[in-house]
Amino acid sequence: MRTSCLLSSAIALFFLSGTNAEDPQGFYAANPGMTKIGLVDQSINQITDVHGRVRFFHGTNVVKKAAPWFRQSEFKPGDSFGPTDVANLRKLGVNAVRLGHHWAGSEPVRGQYNQTFIDIMKAQTKLAEDNGIYVLVDVHQDVLAAQICGHGVPDWFYKKDWVPAWKRFPYPQKLIPFPVDANGKPSDADCNSIDWSVSYLNVAVGNAFGRLYNNFDNLGDAFASYWKKLAQEYVSTKNILGYNLLNEPWVGDTWADPGLLVPGVADRKVMEGLWNKATTQIRTVDKDTLVFFEGATLDVLSGFNDVPLGDGARAVHSFHYYKPPQTGSISTTLENRRKDNVRLKTAGMLTEFEFWITEGEGANLLQETVNAADKYMMSWMGWAYENLYDGGGVPKPVLAKHYSRAYPSAIAGIPTSYGFNPADSSLTVTYKVKKSVTAPTELILPKPTYPNGYNVTVSPNTAGLIQHVVDERTLAFFNSAATADGQSITITITKL
Ligand SMILES: *[C@@H]1O[C@H](CO)[C@@H](O)[C@H](O)[C@H]1NC(C)=O
Ligand SMILES: *[C@@H]1O[C@H](CO)[C@@H](O)[C@H](O)[C@H]1NC(C)=O
Repeated sequence: MRTSCLLSSAIALFFLSGTNAEDPQGFYAANPGMTKIGLVDQSINQITDVHGRVRFFHGTNVVKKAAPWFRQSEFKPGDSFGPTDVANLRKLGVNAVRLGHHWAGSEPVRGQYNQTFIDIMKAQTKLAEDNGIYVLVDVHQDVLAAQICGHGVPDWFYKKDWVPAWKRFPYPQKLIPFPVDANGKPSDADCNSIDWSVSYLNVAVGNAFGRLYNNFDNLGDAFASYWKKLAQEYVSTKNILGYNLLNEPWVGDTWADPGLLVPGVADRKVMEGLWNKATTQIRTVDKDTLVFFEGATLDVLSGFNDVPLGDGARAVHSFHYYKPPQTGSISTTLENRRKDNVRLKTAGMLTEFEFWITEGEGANLLQETVNAADKYMMSWMGWAYENLYDGGGVPKPVLAKHYSRAYPSAIAGIPTSYGFNPADSSLTVTYKVKKSVTAPTELILPKPTYPNGYNVTVSPNTAGLIQHVVDERTLAFFNSAATADGQSITITITKL
């Protein structure tokens, strides 16, 4: 059997060179561009990519809350999302954006999608891909509809006679309903005269959310059909991080059912059904892309019985941290979300928190939040990109330094900890090697944080990791023959 033995060694050699873990150039030549996101590793509640690496994301939100529902391409600090914006974000170290895909922009006439608008969103997503940035497709809303001083759903969604005349918006926040124009919309001045977050408690707002959840006039079906349309458009796009079903869903009709205000109740009682309905539609055209679902922003612990379609390998809990409605520290919320992820067998992501305040308590809270996120190995996206620049289009230094924290974007194994120290810009990453993962560990080491370069220490040295500079912000570590499966690695980066 000498010949066949030789033959099989030859095949083995061929295979080794085809996926040679010791050949960084070969790996990147064979795997150009961005890597598709894979499943959630339910044993560690973390997102992986198709190479089996655990992935982490630092990003920001890009959402235009008014017509035309997208930000312009030409650079306009605070109100654009074009080539200059993505280049700036790339330079800062961002690898993900939560990009608003407004239903109002996509389906201006019921049943007729606006392909021009959807193609603009796809072009923005492609621009992000060309700059190494993942996109979380976000169907955004705040207070749902323009007729109730909110935004999100198309104008045809809302009917003013859903509530009796005397209870119309913003009753009881104000006892006399706002006058409305021929399209049923109140004036901007009236809308700006009330606190929008309190307006969720108004009769007309609860009623409208109730109708979405109860599928009144097939409105829940229409929402699910919009998601099917988005999934059809994005199913083969490499840089899609996931589908964020609905931003900050309100708990529903609290006037019909005050129990919905009890934290956790609305998740299972009214939201879970709609998330299942939308995910069912997504899965008819897209079997794999992660579905990001949100619960009520006032939740302490999540109240869902299960993740969408019961598939925690393809679901991620998208949550926010604002205080109020959260009552404790960021660490308390992250600890609660960790418990949720373990119970629901899914991963989580902090997709909004205050990322605009440059001094005082708010600035301290921002620092505390990004530090805590590292401690919990939690990906984050700040609110919002529009706040980054000063009037002249220069990133505000206090905010830019948080965008430019160093972090591991991919771990070829099981991450055990990572942390960026803002005092000296050092980064420490520890993980256990999984030799079955041949793609490299990758760190994002933004140039603004390391203008004169960095020093790399790998412990133990005997692991023989092979370093490879991928681009101006990415450093990769490939296993070598000396690297042992399961061994603990510590990588330390210090500033020069
Ligand atoms: C479709 O979207 C484009 C781009 O925003 C816009 O110019 C056009 O008016 C929209 N069409 C309709 C019917 O709303
Ligand atoms: C890099 O770090 C190592 C280990 O801590 C140290 O011995 C070495 O002097 C450092 N090199 C530079 C250029 O700072």
